[in-house]
Amino acid sequence: MAPVALMSLLLVGALAQHRTEWTYSGGALDEEHWPREHPACGGKRQSPINLQRKKVQYNPSLKPLNLTGYEAQGVEFPVTNTGHSVQISLPPTMRMTAPDGTEYVALQMHFHWGSVPFGISGSEHTVDGLRYVAEIHVVHYNSKYGSYDLAKSAPDGLAVLAALVEVKEYSENTYYSDLLSHLKNVTNSGESTVLSGLHIQDMLPQNLQDYYTYQGSLTTPPCTENVQWFLLADTVPLSRAQIGKLEASLLNHQHKVMQNNYRRTQPLGGRVVEANFKYQPNPERGGGSSQQQEAPCRPIRPGPGQGDDSLSQSGQRC
Ligand SMILES: *[C@@H]1O[C@H](CO)[C@@H](O)[C@H](O)[C@H]1NC(C)=O
Ligand SMILES: *[C@@H]1O[C@H](CO)[C@@H](O)[C@H](O)[C@H]1NC(C)=O
Repeated sequence: MAPVALMSLLLVGALAQHRTEWTYSGGALDEEHWPREHPACGGKRQSPINLQRKKVQYNPSLKPLNLTGYEAQGVEFPVTNTGHSVQISLPPTMRMTAPDGTEYVALQMHFHWGSVPFGISGSEHTVDGLRYVAEIHVVHYNSKYGSYDLAKSAPDGLAVLAALVEVKEYSENTYYSDLLSHLKNVTNSGESTVLSGLHIQDMLPQNLQDYYTYQGSLTTPPCTENVQWFLLADTVPLSRAQIGKLEASLLNHQHKVMQNNYRRTQPLGGRVVEANFKYQPNPERGGGSSQQQEAPCRPIRPGPGQGDDSLSQSGQRC
């Protein structure tokens, strides 16, 4: 190879590595500008979305999700601060079979949340316009590709099992105690630890039967539009103190407190959201299926240019 060609190859490599790191707000590549470097983020089947329960189509032929290996105990789970979230690496023995028979292999689980001091909510999906406190994503890839790297750009490559978090004022959810008490071990972006006391299934909602499903994308760059979403209707309860810990313990890749790491909802367009359960409006407060309901949080998010100070003025508890 000619030296000049080699030089330019090396240069391209170096440039690729120093691409601007994306952010949710602030910096050159905030949420609004993701499409500049990640064109799919400007696409037509993006996630998250607002889920309008009245418009969800009940599809009685959708089978329940079949989760296997989720109950495994005594497994060592690497836990990493990715600079954008805290991520638990999952073993490939954890699998999910979708209602159409596609088998997906679990890769990792991570969280999206809001900000302190007022417990401002930070879920990505909203339900009837209401933003929940936080959101859990379990990312899977289609087993027929054999690895995430091969699946990640395939049109039928990925599935995410998602759940929303609600605050139960004073009740500590002990299934989260181990993870939350070790966040201090991964304060900085890039830090990892290993936890062996996690029970992944118990960190999910009790009811794993009822779900919403639609075709969307990754909610972070590169926003690839190859994700079959399964959002559970039941929620995970955490205490206010636990949410506070999640919102205040980690630093992002800009060395700032990692908070409000959620993307705004994206246009649904012509997409249809289906559910495998019937929506039964509750005359009291529009509750969904059978799960016990507590008031979710109002949708509040920092507007462009608004600092955290203005947030704390308008911050509303949930
Ligand atoms: C769930 O999936 C596992 C493994 O793929 C399979 O052995 C089992 O029969 C499935 N269970 C149901 C209820 O379909
Ligand atoms: C977490 O950090 C503490 C000290 O800060 C240390 O004693 C402990 O072993 C660490 N635990 C893990 C699982 O890394």
